Amino acid sequence: CMQVATNVVEQKHHVSRAKRGQILGHLRGFRGCTVWFTGLSGAGKTSIAFELEAHLVSRGIPSYGLDGDNMRHGLNKDLSFSKKDREENIRRVAEVAKLFADAGQVCLCSFVSPFAEDRDLARRIHRDSDLPFFEVFVDTPLSVCEQRDTKGLYQKARKGDIKGFTGIDQPYEKPEHPELVVKTVDCSVQESTMQVVEMLQENGVLP
Ligand code: PPS
Ligand code: MG
Repeated sequence: CMQVATNVVEQKHHVSRAKRGQILGHLRGFRGCTVWFTGLSGAGKTSIAFELEAHLVSRGIPSYGLDGDNMRHGLNKDLSFSKKDREENIRRVAEVAKLFADAGQVCLCSFVSPFAEDRDLARRIHRDSDLPFFEVFVDTPLSVCEQRDTKGLYQKARKGDIKGFTGIDQPYEKPEHPELVVKTVDCSVQESTMQVVEMLQENGVLP
């Protein structure tokens, strides 16, 4: 049975979000939020998130991308792709994203995050801290992802060399109410990225 810490009380920062916003970036102002990209492996999550990160940083807006492949080399290198470990992966990442957003970054999370309840937890973690959370469904059909097979993982999964691969022998639960759906078929990375930029403008995150 797991030991959990007791006698722990939340400590309050002395710096308000408004105050933080005064020193943040060229375009000043607190813009802390999390954009959560979900979709199949090979859908284009990383490409869009990193394109957006570059776009924002070049405009002087602090932004940082947290990516599944990268997080699984560091903080989450002890986790597998079982349902339980994917849940823990998303929980940890959501907690980290919350800290980035609270620090005033536009935090871009690109994770397969195939289970709706895990994504809902990520959303709740942000809501409880009054931080905007935008779920973006990168809606690329399995057939297209498999055809792209940029990392050769689908081929391995089909041969049975990878077990529990999303879309092959583990489910992907499509978001029911995402803030945005982007298609990547007949649409460049730049075009998809601009759709996210527009959504952030409509929601007052970007000027
Ligand atoms: S999850 O479901 O959110 O915990 O997955 P994530 O942390 O985003 O990691 C997905 C990347 O890991 C590679 N990979 C797999 N993906 C899905 N299922 C299985 N079994 C798997 N094994 C390895 C793959 O490169 C994923 O990256 P993307 O960018 O999505 O292709
Ligand atoms: Mg990726």
